[in-house]
Amino acid sequence: MNVAIRRMTLEDVPTVHEIDTISFSLPWAERSFRFELTENPVSRSWVAESGGRIAAMLVLWLIIDEAHIATIATHPDFRRQGIGEQLMIAALLSARAEGAAHAFLEVRAGNAGALSLYKKYGFVVAGGRPRYYKDNNEDAILMNLDDLNGLEAS
Ligand SMILES: CC(C)(COP(=O)(O)OP(=O)(O)OC[C@H]1O[C@@H](n2cnc3c(N)ncnc32)[C@H](O)[C@@H]1OP(=O)(O)O)[C@@H](O)C(=O)NCCC(=O)NCCS
Repeated sequence: MNVAIRRMTLEDVPTVHEIDTISFSLPWAERSFRFELTENPVSRSWVAESGGRIAAMLVLWLIIDEAHIATIATHPDFRRQGIGEQLMIAALLSARAEGAAHAFLEVRAGNAGALSLYKKYGFVVAGGRPRYYKDNNEDAILMNLDDLNGLEAS
């Protein structure tokens, strides 16, 4: 599958918000994505395109030497095609080029697919936040990738 990965633009936001809404029980407001693009200096927002459609989106916060994956989702029509991993790796490699040494994220304890994705690329469980997600009181798992130097493009 031919996938093009590029930075998110304001024109992408309605589609990105649609993917977010389909993918999460607590989606971001559309204006949150606009904020990331226009006002948040630590934000690096990305999309993956396939066949002329936006297939996946990711927002990363680069805070000094830490890359924090704030959100990532692939549209259901495009899941399990390797797009999410390509997008995540591209965003992390770009953050590494900008000085990130390690990466961090939070994931729902019951999100087996996402946990597998992160473990596949070396993220390890670094802690938890009990009942963090307010819609169903699900725990958050905190994950770390200690050394971004080992990361290769998929
Ligand atoms: C998690 C998510 C982003 C994965 O995106 P994707 O494009 O389908 O993922 P990929 O096809 O690149 O999968 C890469 C690897 O992740 C793991 N994986 C992804 N989805 C999985 C699933 N449903 N079950 C088990 N493993 C899964 C596998 O290890 C897979 O590698 P493999 O295909 O070689 O086995 C996608 O399922 C999604 O958008 N989910 C809803 C939103 C979400 O939960 N985001 C994460 C929040 S922390």
